[in-house]
Amino acid sequence: MKIITKCSEMADYSLDARARGGAVGLVPTMGALHDGHLSLLKTASRHCDNVVMSVFVNPAQFGPAEDFERYPRQLERDCEFVEAAGCDAVFAPSPQEIYPDNYSTYVNVENITGVLCGASRPGHFRGVATVVLKLFNIVMPQIAVFGAKDAQQVIVIKRVVEDLNLSVKIIAAPTVREPDGLAMSSRNAYLSANERAEAPLIHRALMSAKGLYDGGERGGRSIMDCVRSILNEGRLINPEYVEVVDTTLLKPLDSIVRPALLAVACRTAETGTRLIDNVVLGGDL
Ligand code: PAJ
Repeated sequence: MKIITKCSEMADYSLDARARGGAVGLVPTMGALHDGHLSLLKTASRHCDNVVMSVFVNPAQFGPAEDFERYPRQLERDCEFVEAAGCDAVFAPSPQEIYPDNYSTYVNVENITGVLCGASRPGHFRGVATVVLKLFNIVMPQIAVFGAKDAQQVIVIKRVVEDLNLSVKIIAAPTVREPDGLAMSSRNAYLSANERAEAPLIHRALMSAKGLYDGGERGGRSIMDCVRSILNEGRLINPEYVEVVDTTLLKPLDSIVRPALLAVACRTAETGTRLIDNVVLGGDL
């Protein structure tokens, strides 16, 4: 497996792979890899011969009070982890390589980035869209795989691809969970033991609401109330938002007459860790 740190070398690798007739797939990550990331890698390798995983903790998507500095960094372990899983190349550039001096260009996706996670994380999706577009230009993949756990991120990236006529196909892969239902996340490592014990409540709440939907309930309000009432059983998991929105424009749906994203963000009481999860009712991302 190749480990590449320079944009020019990454581009050469992809151009060479494509010249040999191979399709290139990209899995963008910020490292601290877990089985969720690995499943994206496996999805990518089903679609293409050369799978590149990028590992870059992107400063542009963290707010000033967020965890950029303490975000877990463990490149060596990450490389061993993905090499065993059949990754062909890891692209791990330095911040300076991605944002050199005088860097000034950002991608601003309107309308869908000020809601849900964007409401409490101003600038977050601007940072995500910018770095992902840069990664697409550097790696030149035919496909890129993202996790459905970050549903708004998938929707924002699909918007960028469509709006800017990019020729990369976006694949959303299902959320990988711990045995008790908690969505895997690099940030789960921040949880205290008590918070970790309560955290599966989020998935349980989403599954109860999905049960209501499957039983015929179509009212957005009833679905959200169901989630909130189950989250209220916990002492340490405080909802930041619970929303039912359409899967394209992220507009609230009073009545679920088309595929709906039921999305939740919570903040834990002891360590202030932010946990997100979602389920799509009546469709896919
Ligand atoms: P990161 O949080 O490292 O996640 C990288 C990818 O893994 C994302 O597509 C995310 O949705 C996916 N992922 C995370 N947890 C998952 C799980 N439990 N099951 C399945 N997929 C999961 O998301 C980012 O990094 C960044 O915003 C990035 C896209 C790399 C841009 O910097």
